[in-house]
Amino acid sequence: MEMDSPSQSRPPHVVIFPLPLQGHINSMIKLAELLALAGFKLTFLNSHHNHERLIKFTNIVAYFKRYPGFELKTITDGLPLDHPRSGNWFLETYEEAIIMKIKQSFREMLMNSNPPVDCVIADGFSGFAIDVANELGIPIIGFRTSSPRSFWVYYSITDIIKAGELPIRGSEDMDRLITTVPGMETYLRCRDLPSFCRKSDIEDSTVQLIVKQTRKSTEADALIFNTTDELDGPILSQIRTKCANIYPIGPLHAQLNTKLKAKHGESFDQFSNALREEDKSCIPWLDKQPYRSVIYVSFGSITSTSRDQLVELWYGLLNSKTKFLFVVRPDSVIGKDGEGEDVVKELMEKSKDRGYIVDWAPQEVVLNHQAVGGFLTHSGWNSTLESIVAGVPMVCWPYFADQQVTSRVVSRVWKIGLDMKDVCDRKIVENMVNDVMVDRKEFVNSATDMAKVINQCVSIGGSSSNNLDRLIEDIRMKRLKTTKRL
Ligand code: UDX
Repeated sequence: MEMDSPSQSRPPHVVIFPLPLQGHINSMIKLAELLALAGFKLTFLNSHHNHERLIKFTNIVAYFKRYPGFELKTITDGLPLDHPRSGNWFLETYEEAIIMKIKQSFREMLMNSNPPVDCVIADGFSGFAIDVANELGIPIIGFRTSSPRSFWVYYSITDIIKAGELPIRGSEDMDRLITTVPGMETYLRCRDLPSFCRKSDIEDSTVQLIVKQTRKSTEADALIFNTTDELDGPILSQIRTKCANIYPIGPLHAQLNTKLKAKHGESFDQFSNALREEDKSCIPWLDKQPYRSVIYVSFGSITSTSRDQLVELWYGLLNSKTKFLFVVRPDSVIGKDGEGEDVVKELMEKSKDRGYIVDWAPQEVVLNHQAVGGFLTHSGWNSTLESIVAGVPMVCWPYFADQQVTSRVVSRVWKIGLDMKDVCDRKIVENMVNDVMVDRKEFVNSATDMAKVINQCVSIGGSSSNNLDRLIEDIRMKRLKTTKRL
């Protein structure tokens, strides 16, 4: 044992640094709380912009005071404070000059830290953090917040291109199987590749950025995935051939809930990490609905829909046999000036007795409500995990990036829902919603069975719980730099 191990003198100091996006903050702040529960000193590093939003919409400062040494720090996201940051702003602005700004602030923050930083856990998409940590001799773990299968597809894109399986040759080519992603040969079609693979120019800068960041993240000392061996075992084995030390410690929200329940009992207090104001009025509405009679509809924090798509989705829901709770973010409907807002108001008026609409819902609570029997989702990874843990079957309508891969896995591999990818037609929406909610009980059964298995993983002795213990011990005992690079 090393003489200067933080366990002998002071708790280990870990810095957690997510990308400035809702879906990334959600799982990383849960990991931060899990490490704080283990007695670590934590610094959670948010962008100024997101920190301000968390202060506005949550009790973040008061909540984390319960953990001695939990510090909330901020850093630039490279953009001026008055930038709107709407839609897919991150990928559109993530370029060298911006990265250099963030990198410089990050280096200064680490160098000036007191007590010194013992380990960095950085978003797996920020390769610059690996360079800074290596330069300063600090162990670094990459946290990939999206699914391991999408990570593995991103990683394999160079090989897919080399094998001549990309670019895609027009719409008639979409159902062709991709054979060069090890472990996914039997079910991954062109249609299921991350959305940016649809570009005819595969040298496009977004594709190159994503491939580069993914390959770079295997240079970290270890990788954390928000999954379990039970969900993604075969693909995790493939990823281990590129980065030997992997910690599958998810679903993190369930892992944290289990630990908080063990510590505080059933009625534990929980941090809501929303960057928007939650409309809790949907809960009393749900309370009045029968068991499993409502489909919850939400497309996460980034997805946009056109006016026409929204109308098709809406009529599909209206014509189905179910009631619905629909999240329509104010900035999410793309129409001409004000057109988006008009259509939401109009549809709301037409469907008062069948549906309920909110700007932003307390999603975890909603998915666990007895009245909710299905989830029409964009297949974001957090949403998918939250649905799995709650035992709620899904209708998937993926929007971009990792979501195309995840929706295929939900329908074809795990068989806990249907994939509506690339279609937005009211008849198909109606049929799929009825299939999942009313007609085909096999989805309900398989989602219930899967929930049991996955909830076990985060209980004492479960695979994810054991992996979290291993992560905590490896940081405490400073074992990370001993990982052999492949
Ligand atoms: C993005 C990507 O799209 C996603 O695929 C990736 O894995 C992470 O980053 P996002 O699109 O926002 O995230 O989707 P998702 O990962 O599902 O995260 C959304 C989060 O917001 C979930 O934790 C969900 O519970 C929460 N949410 C969403 C709410 O609390 N209320 C809502 O009304 C909608």
